[in-house]
Order: sequence, then structure tokens, then C-alpha cells
Amino acid sequence: MNPFRFGNVVTGEYFTNRQSEIKEIISEIKSGQHIVLMSPRRYGKSSLVNEAMKTSRMKWFRINMELIADEIDLANYYVRNALSLSKFEKIKHYLKNLKIQPYIQIQPKTSEISVSFSTDTQAGTGSRNISTLLSDSLQLPETIAKNMKKKVVIVFDEFQEIRRISRTLERKMRGIFQYHQNVTYVFVGSQESMIREIFQNKKNPFYKFGRHITLHKIPEPEFSDFVIKRFSSQRIDARGIVQDVLKFTDGRPYYTQQLCHEIFILSEKKTLTPGIINKAVDQITTEHHADYSRWWGSLTNTERKVIIGIASGDYNPTSQEFIRKYNIKSASTSGSVVSKLIALGTLVKKNGENIKIEDPFWKEWILKNR
Ligand SMILES: Nc1ncnc2c1ncn2[C@@H]1O[C@H](COP(=O)(O)OP(=O)(O)O)[C@@H](O)[C@H]1O
Ligand SMILES: [Mg+2]
Repeated sequence: MNPFRFGNVVTGEYFTNRQSEIKEIISEIKSGQHIVLMSPRRYGKSSLVNEAMKTSRMKWFRINMELIADEIDLANYYVRNALSLSKFEKIKHYLKNLKIQPYIQIQPKTSEISVSFSTDTQAGTGSRNISTLLSDSLQLPETIAKNMKKKVVIVFDEFQEIRRISRTLERKMRGIFQYHQNVTYVFVGSQESMIREIFQNKKNPFYKFGRHITLHKIPEPEFSDFVIKRFSSQRIDARGIVQDVLKFTDGRPYYTQQLCHEIFILSEKKTLTPGIINKAVDQITTEHHADYSRWWGSLTNTERKVIIGIASGDYNPTSQEFIRKYNIKSASTSGSVVSKLIALGTLVKKNGENIKIEDPFWKEWILKNR
């Protein structure tokens, strides 16, 4: 069995560290404090929240805003998840709270519930119906929590997507959530500028709604122990390569597990030596060639120049030297490209650190293909 996993939420032996973050999240939630959890993509936010909620043994559900198409879709998800918090026998009772009745199907064996509001609601609609539907749905968890006499936690993952779903959703949600006494909200986001805009701009409805927590990388000594332990569970000695692995991935959890996953597949000997890192990186960049060239193809000329410069180790894209060397029109052109690429997550910039290309394998691919 490959001792490394990447992509989805990880738990159990694939999850490491984060003890203090878990403690902090649980203690805030138990006191009813809403939270805004922020970090770049793939640092482990979803895994952390999942772990914290499991540890807390509280009732909770997660809405991944990336998967929500529109307000009706959100209402469907919401009602279904809210109903599954309660006892089976109570469902009918709670449905009475909804002014627009959904079509409900229940799997008797698994008690799985599916909810859909009939398309009449959409067609015959008018936005008034959708609004009623949405506000009833957003209200439902509070009603259920109050009835159960138990606090409930709702996690919104990739919350910045709210602005794609609808322009008025922020206002509607905030208007309802502010009265809730029995539901604690956790907002998870990976586009820092958008999340800051939503929660730190006075003009916006969610201004100061939750306490901010920024998730950092896993500290190097702990992550290095994790890598060594995972390899040694398969009788492989990785002590000789772990430092170089973390250097390549910059200690970012997802890419570290991705690289180690590949190294494990390629490992023939019981003791690993640094040469295997290059082999694994080659393998990964070859495997993802199609994706990488599609990303590259979607960039403008100036974006390409900025990325090439940064990939080549020139970290100050707005300097005169940089724009001359890479033949960019002006420092301000370069600056606005950088801001856009940071917002998209293609580049990452942390306080006091150099700008980096988010995906270290893509960076390798770019350097190799030039
Ligand atoms: N605590 C952790 N320990 C080990 N690996 C982790 C941890 N958190 C995240 N990862 C790695 O990063 C990947 C992405 O994690 P995820 O929770 O989906 O991040 P995010 O929600 O921030 O995008 C996981 O699939 C796993 O490989
Ligand atoms: Mg996530």
C-alpha cells in the first residue's frame, strides 16, 4: 500500500500534526465563535476542519461552495444536510417549517435523504419564490439545532465562491445567520484577497463576522518525521532524501505527499538516495504534460514572461531589471499581471517571502520545456 495520499481530505495515518490548530478551532466553536479559516489552496484546510469536527464530536455538515450551481441548488444541499442532522422520525415535523415543500426521497436502509424543490418553483418562480425557499433553507439548521438542544456547526468550504453563485447571496445569508444562537459557522477560503474583501471590508455584509485563523505550512521537523515514518511503515529508509524532498516542495502538504507517493512507486531499494527525487519529478511532469501545456496555453504573453522570469529565479517582477530582461512593457503591466496571477492562485506571495509559482511540478515542466 502506498503510504502517501494526495488530492482529497486526508485523515488517520495520512494526516499529521495540526494539534494546536485542532484545539483552537474546537475551543472557538464550542464557545459559539464563528471562524474564517484561510490559506492558499492545498495547505490542508479541508482536512484540518474535518479532523477538528470529528474530534469535537459535534453535529456538523460541510457545504462545498465550488459544487453549488445557484441558489436553488444551495437550498437543496442545505435542506438535505440539515435534515440528516435530526432523527429520522422528526423529519416530517421539520418539513412543516418550509413554506415551499420539497420532494423528498428516503432510502430506508441507509436513511439517506434526497431533496429536490420541484422545477415549478423555478419556472413559475419569480425571484420571490426562490428567496423564500432560500431563506427557509438557511433558517432550517437553527430550527433543528434548537429543537435538538444541541449546537450545530456548518462549514462552508471555498466560501469565496459565494460571489459566483449570486450577487445578493452574501447579504441574504448574513441577514439570517446573525440571529442564529445554535449554529456556529466556519468559513474556509483559499483566495486570500477575496476572503479579505468579504470579511474585512466594512462595506460588505460579512464584515467582522468571524475570527480569522491563517493556516500555515506544517513545521519542517514534524513534516520530515511524518515522511520518514510513512516510508518506514513500508520498510523504506527515507532519511537520506527527506530534506531534499521538502526543499523541492517547499514543505507544502499536497505536493509533498504527491512527490513521496511517486517516490514510493519508483523505489526499488530499501534505502533511498537523492537521485530518486529527479526520477519522480520527471515521471510526474510527464504524466501531467497535457494539463500543464493547457495551463500554459491559456496564458497571455506578458503572463508567460512573468512566470518564466520567476521560474528562472528572478523574484522581483516589477523591477526595471526584470522588465528589461524579459521584455515587458512597463513595471505597472508586470504588477497587474502578478496581482491577477496571485488572485488565480498560479503564483503565491507570502509576507516576507519571494513570489513563487504555486505548483512546483509545473515550474519544473516550464523550465524543462524551454
Ligand atoms: N495534516 C496533514 N498531514 C499530511 N498531509 C496533509 C495534511 N493536510 C493536507 N495534507 C495533504 O494535502 C492535500 C490537500 O489537503 P486539503 O485538506 O484538501 O487542502 P485544502 O483544503 O487546503 O485545499 C491532502 O490530500 C494531503 O495530501
Ligand atoms: Mg479544501
